[in-house]
Amino acid sequence: VSEHTGGRGRLCVVGIGPGDPAWCTPEVTQRLRDATDLVGYQTYLDLLPPRSPGQADQQVHVFDNREEAERARVALDLAASGRDVVVVSSGDPGVFAMATAVIEQLALAADVAGRTDERAGTGAWSEVDVDVLPGVTASLAASARVGAIMGHDHCLISLSDNLKPWAVIEQRLDAAARADFVIALYNPISRHRPWQLGRAIELVGTHRSPDTPVVVGHDVGRAAETVAILTLAALPEADVDMRTVVIIGSSTTRTFRYGDREWVYTPRSYPEPKV
Ligand SMILES: C[S@@+](CC[C@H](N)C(=O)[O-])C[C@H]1O[C@@H](n2cnc3c(N)ncnc32)[C@H](O)[C@@H]1O
Repeated sequence: VSEHTGGRGRLCVVGIGPGDPAWCTPEVTQRLRDATDLVGYQTYLDLLPPRSPGQADQQVHVFDNREEAERARVALDLAASGRDVVVVSSGDPGVFAMATAVIEQLALAADVAGRTDERAGTGAWSEVDVDVLPGVTASLAASARVGAIMGHDHCLISLSDNLKPWAVIEQRLDAAARADFVIALYNPISRHRPWQLGRAIELVGTHRSPDTPVVVGHDVGRAAETVAILTLAALPEADVDMRTVVIIGSSTTRTFRYGDREWVYTPRSYPEPKV
């Protein structure tokens, strides 16, 4: 645990990658070791490597996954008191994860700074040394497992309508499919959102052929990893849950067998337009 207590606190938002410790950057690994306090959702804290004896004094603050803003405020308050705080996200912290929640709290603090109704704490946050350390996001990890399905223009869309209206998600799916992006779907399904993936497949299917390659990555980089290569037509029958990333190819994405492996890639070059 670092000497970083008292004086100016630090807050670092890290992404630990999808699960395999080998996919956690050395920079993130070091910051996790140095921290006086870890803040996170239990599932992500469980993915961390066992703590070394030097980390025995580390405080761990466990939160419910839905309490993102509260988690960010607690982390900022801890750092403002001089602690060396690490907020843990899976994958990359900037992809549907905690970096936004922390930076959003800073934006709110910046908005109220100077006003007479300034809330306690926001002034102190301006003294905190804040940084965000990148990680390997789930879709890129799944893409690497099969070759390079994300090898050309792509977009990432979360199907969760907890924080944005479903109508916006439909608009984006339609626009992305029309623009022929490879589309990676995060948060594809949950107990409270059972039908949204089916609707997303339907929408994309109006612009893509049924034999478009699809990659379904479940628990990528973890012990229970499975990565399946299928088609858009077969996707409704696939086993998809909240630990799954679904990647739908573009019109140029192709699969092939070579040796004993099946590969998927999206070429980077387009044929010259015919004149
Ligand atoms: C709240 S988002 C967090 C994404 C994370 N920040 C990232 O960059 O991968 C959670 C979603 O990410 C995807 N995901 C995260 N880790 C995964 C893994 N190891 N395998 C497959 N999908 C994963 C799933 O779609 C899941 O519902």
